[in-house]
Parts: sequence; C-alpha cells; structure tokens
Amino acid sequence: MTASLNAPENRYLSGNYAPVADEITALDLPVIGELPRELNGRYLRNGPNPIGEVDPESHHWFIGDGMVHGICIRDGRAAWYRNRYVGSSALSAARGVPDIPGRNWNNGSGGPNTNVGGFAGTTWAMVEAGACPVELTHELETIGRNDFFGTLPGAFTAHPKIDPATGEMHAMTYAWAEWLDHIQYVRVGPDGSVNRTVDIPLPGMSMVHDMSITDRFVIVYDQPVLVDLDLAFAGRRFPFRWFDDYGNRVGLMPREGTAADIVWVDVPVGYVFHPLNAYDTPDGNVVLDVCFYDVMFRNDLNGPFGDSLPRLVRWEINPTTRTTSVTTIDERVNEFPRHRGSLTGKPYRYGYCAQVDESSMHWPTVKHDLVTGSREVFDHGPGRAAGEPVFVGRPGSTVEDDGWLVTFVHDGNNNSAEFVVIDAQDFARGYVAQVQLPQRVPFGFHGNWVTERN
Ligand SMILES: [Fe+2]
Repeated sequence: MTASLNAPENRYLSGNYAPVADEITALDLPVIGELPRELNGRYLRNGPNPIGEVDPESHHWFIGDGMVHGICIRDGRAAWYRNRYVGSSALSAARGVPDIPGRNWNNGSGGPNTNVGGFAGTTWAMVEAGACPVELTHELETIGRNDFFGTLPGAFTAHPKIDPATGEMHAMTYAWAEWLDHIQYVRVGPDGSVNRTVDIPLPGMSMVHDMSITDRFVIVYDQPVLVDLDLAFAGRRFPFRWFDDYGNRVGLMPREGTAADIVWVDVPVGYVFHPLNAYDTPDGNVVLDVCFYDVMFRNDLNGPFGDSLPRLVRWEINPTTRTTSVTTIDERVNEFPRHRGSLTGKPYRYGYCAQVDESSMHWPTVKHDLVTGSREVFDHGPGRAAGEPVFVGRPGSTVEDDGWLVTFVHDGNNNSAEFVVIDAQDFARGYVAQVQLPQRVPFGFHGNWVTERN
C-alpha cells in the first residue's frame, strides 16, 4: 500500500488547531457563576503548539512542541492561568538555550505534548513513543526530564492508569526506533519509582497509544497502525499508518504475569486511541468500553479525524473462548472519554465524552449512563467546542457522579477560551462557573485535575 499525502491545506494548523504565540500569566481572573469552595487545585491540559515554522504538507498534529495550559482554583477564586511550553531538546534548540537537564535515554529531540497530571507529589508532562516524562513546577515551568527518579529503563506513555486500590501507576510503553520488536509494560509505585517491567514481543511495531487495567489484568491494544519505515526515514514526518492486513487484537496479561501468560483475543478491525474504562465481570469476562474508529491514518496522515470518527462501543471479551461480543453504546461521535478515577478498572456506571464535530465548532459534552443506556448532552452553545471532560469527585463523595466536569471551551464566535465547571449530576443547571481566559487555548489532548496532594 502506498501512503497518499494530504494536500498542503492542513486542518491541524488552522482555526483553533493553530498554535498561540505567547506564554501568559494572569492572576485573579473574573468568574461568572461561583467556583465551588471544595474545588481546590489545578486543572492542567497538554497539547501541541509548534514553536517554529512547520511544513503544512507533512505536519502531523501529534508532533508539535508541547504546551501546558493550566488554571489554579483556590477558595472559590481563579487564582491564576498560565500556559508554558514543555521543555525538550527541540524546544531548547529552537530558543537557542542549553538543553533541559535530566537523562535523555534515547537522545530524542521531542518532548511530552500529550498529557499532564500529578503523581507522587510531582507534576508530570507525558508522551508516548520514547521521550522521557518531564517534571514541571506548580507554576508549570520545566524542571527537566524525570525518569521516575532514575528507575525508568526507557520509554513511557501519555496514558498510564492509576489503580485506585493500590495507588500504583500502570503503563504500556513503546519506543519504535529503539525497540522494533517489542513494547514494555511498566508499573510505578506510589513513591514514584518503577517496580516492575515486562517486555512484550509484538509482530509489528504497533502504535500503542493507551492501555487498560482491571482487577485481574493489564491490557495491551495491538492494532493495525504500525511504523512504516519509509515514512520514518522521511524526516520529521509522523511514521505511523494503517495496515490493512495486520488484524486487531487485545492482550490480557495477568497482573503479575509475563508476556507468555498473555491471552490474545481478536477484536473488530479498527483503531482505538482511548478506552473509557475496563473491568472484570463476575463470570470471568472482561468489559472494555472504547472509542472505536473504523480506520485510522490510511488517507489522512496528518491527524486522526480525516478517515473516520469514533463511536462508543463495548467489547465483552471471554478469555476462555477467546471471543469478543460487540455492542454499540452510541453511534454518535465520542472521544476523549473519562470516568470517575476511583473506579478505574472497576465496574462503573457513568462515562463522559467530547462529541467532536469536525464539520463545525459545536462540540457538546456527553454523559453516558451505561446501566440504562441513556445519554445526556451539555450543549455549550453554537460555535463553542468543549475538550476532554475531566471528572472531579466532590471531596468525600461516594455517589459515582457526585462531582464536577471541568474542561476548556473554545468559543469560535470570538476566538476565545473559557475554563468551565459543570455539575455532573445536573446538566440542566447550566454552568456552575465560567472563567474567561486571557487567550485562545488551541485544541489539544489530555489533562487532569491535580489537587494539592498530588
Ligand atoms: Fe490520547
């Protein structure tokens, strides 16, 4: 198969995908509505923001230099907004300054542009494909690369999963240029030190974007988006594309197992960036709720949205018969799925997604009730697009949806951005609070609510 190239028009460089030029600090921002007094911490979100000129013919959305946008909420006040580039060798070179500190195990130039969150008392920016995590200060300045305090052998990921029962962080990592025949499972203890790794051979160098955990398993997604060495040798071009004949499978590795113990099960051919959640059933099956694309990076080699858009599906996997039963939860577009973090890997009821609509700037937030099958829509209004909805539980709450959704909203009507807080139990109430930000926040990837504890 010959990869076709996009026309010079590159959707991932225009509109609200376009980068912003300035790093801004704004203090005591005005609030519309009322920020809950119990909501104390930072909402941080990472995304690509190319610092220099890029070639629109070859630029891939996933490659731009990382920039974290963050807002600090304290005692009902929007204490600050900041946006800062995430340090990397490439960024240092572009700025003509010395490289950032910290071990660079594969001498990679790029840095984390995909996720940011708190763990083990530290703020981490993260990315897949080899680059070391970068540690940030509370105010989002880069400290340097941090290989989990000297314990990470190589690559990490943008999508670790924190087990709410143990506090451990689980990751499927890959480094396509260094590890062409395997990926690596990494487990990090609550102290921030890696305490277990397992090399997992794969038949192709699959783009392993995310993973899942259940009480019994850590789960590998081995999907038909693979490194194409012709693309890899074509300079800074994104090296992954669709392969028709690779198939699609997930691997269930027992929590304390090895690669030889993995039960591989075929799933429908397509691509999943993001599982919503996963759990074991009482009869020994494994449920995976995923945002499923029919095809990925076959024709659109500059980003994820040109070939198909994702629907929300449930795969119930029987590890004994190695079969998968498929149920469509929602045919409409669902991406950037989130759930209550205290239920990661466990039975759960509610999922929250962004309804990405590439034909307009009208991206509602959707709440799925996976027990009744019903859905609720929070409509942010014409021309307004909400990103990944991050669920923040009300402190001390035990009811699953007792809490808030926080995210950035792009307002295409005046090219501005807001931080918004939504009552997860009461969409009809409208916004609990809106904070107008001093600049546009480009569409990006993932973020988290970070309390003072982590
Ligand atoms: Fe992602």
